[in-house]
Amino acid sequence: MTSGTDRATGEPQVYEADDRVDVTMTINGEVVRASVPARMLLSDFLRHELGLTGTHVGCEHGVCGACTVHLDGRPARSCLTLAVQADGCTVRTVEGLAAPTGELHPVQQSFQECHALQCGFCTPGFVMSVAGLIDEGLPNDLTDGELRERLAGNLCRCTGYQNIVAATRRAIELNEQRGPPQPAPRQSAPGGGRRAPAPGASAGRRPTGCTGSTTLPRWDRWMC
Ligand code: FES
Ligand code: FES
Repeated sequence: MTSGTDRATGEPQVYEADDRVDVTMTINGEVVRASVPARMLLSDFLRHELGLTGTHVGCEHGVCGACTVHLDGRPARSCLTLAVQADGCTVRTVEGLAAPTGELHPVQQSFQECHALQCGFCTPGFVMSVAGLIDEGLPNDLTDGELRERLAGNLCRCTGYQNIVAATRRAIELNEQRGPPQPAPRQSAPGGGRRAPAPGASAGRRPTGCTGSTTLPRWDRWMC
């Protein structure tokens, strides 16, 4: 049995396990309508029904953070969310993070620059979590310990976290340099303040620790 809310009436609704429910949600800017089993997880809906396999599934019980997406602008575990619970919501996955022009989101760029990954399995979840933290105003003067605490909702079994911490600092810098998100994709003037300086170049801040890898991994290889 699954509970939800009837959008038409606003009344609580109880679904049986084999019920199918019509849902509508906006995913990465596109309106998606579907009929889903009442107990289908949002992570399964994204991956298996829509082919958005950038959202990874690790533990399936809310511990590892690999399945993190943004639900109405806030990071959420898609393995702990039913697709019916996302009815009427805005969902953003890692596939929707880069600009329509292909310009990487500051967190994607920083993870690439700082080589904040090894196998890449945890990476989409980290990227979505860090993007959420930055949206909420993550300050750049936190100690490494404080920053690691903020990142504790995501697990990585490869990297030892050092480069992930560095990439998070770098992402804050890049985000500040870029300013607020631009509404239209074709407005950036050549070099119009959107080009990133050398990693860790900002003065008066904690150093990012990012070494600026010269062998950059391709972003799309991490999303399988
Ligand atoms: S798969 Fe969702 S938290 Fe691990
Ligand atoms: S890079 Fe392998 S789990 Fe994080």
